[in-house]
Amino acid sequence: MASIGRALRRPWIVPFYVVVFGFLLSRLPLYVGFDPAKSTAPTRLDLPFYYPLLVAHILFGSVAFVTASIQVWPWLRNRNPKLHRISGRVYVLGGALPAGLAILTITPFLTHGPGQKAGNALLGLLWLGTTIVGFRRARQGRIVEHREWMLRSFALCFSILASRFWLGPAILWLEPEVFTMGVDGPPAVQDQVSTLTSWVPWVVNLLIAEWFNHRARYKALGRQAAKRAAAQTGVAQDAVPPVASGSPAVPTGAAVLERPAPDPVP
Ligand code: HEM
Repeated sequence: MASIGRALRRPWIVPFYVVVFGFLLSRLPLYVGFDPAKSTAPTRLDLPFYYPLLVAHILFGSVAFVTASIQVWPWLRNRNPKLHRISGRVYVLGGALPAGLAILTITPFLTHGPGQKAGNALLGLLWLGTTIVGFRRARQGRIVEHREWMLRSFALCFSILASRFWLGPAILWLEPEVFTMGVDGPPAVQDQVSTLTSWVPWVVNLLIAEWFNHRARYKALGRQAAKRAAAQTGVAQDAVPPVASGSPAVPTGAAVLERPAPDPVP
């Protein structure tokens, strides 16, 4: 019981898993039957490779989602490092790389304007780039950098979820007739909506990831400074002469710091 309590100490874990698995359960059934008529994403039936690559993208993207979700739960990561290593490799080799390559192949043929194509192309390239660098840093044992790059990779991966949340405000702003009359705006306005949702979610997610990385770096610097100060204090305490009876048992910090450091041991 206590262990479940500890596992759920992060209040974001349960809502996070509900959203991730809710998304997968709502999307995957539309694509596992390989029936283009069920696709909610526009398909290009004039291009025979388009739909298979879209489905490959979604299936490998789902592997990336599941394995990334395993990686971000600190309790599971600390308790089962072997699972962390295995799911990390599956995320890279069986999720992000094939899903990213599949979507990059069909990006030039997407159905909306150049804004959508450019946003998705850059997102796909950054996703592949951050994942590859993060993977290499882990293999090189550069763990702090590995964590920073993987955080960027996950931020880009989950921007697909975030784009579903941005879609509502984008439509409300640019084509409110979808909500009021149930009809799509003109194609040019739909292109604006898809441009907005192809850029804003991942740029915002990446900025949030950078903020986390900066915060972690500053915290680490703070810990190092505190350790150094404690070590100096320890050195100074070693130099304190035996306490005479009647004097305070523990000298004050200021007093300790003011004492000269001991001579180096020959
Ligand atoms: C981060 C790199 C990714 C890029 C650049 C990307 C890009 C795209 C694009 C361009 C489409 C077609 C959208 C359209 O034509 O309207 C699409 C569809 C889709 N992608 Fe991704 N995607 C990425 C990652 C993911 C991930 C990690 C998943 C996880 C499952 C995912 C799941 C889907 C799904 C379910 C669809 C179909 C959407 C629908 O039915 O409305 N994608 N993606």
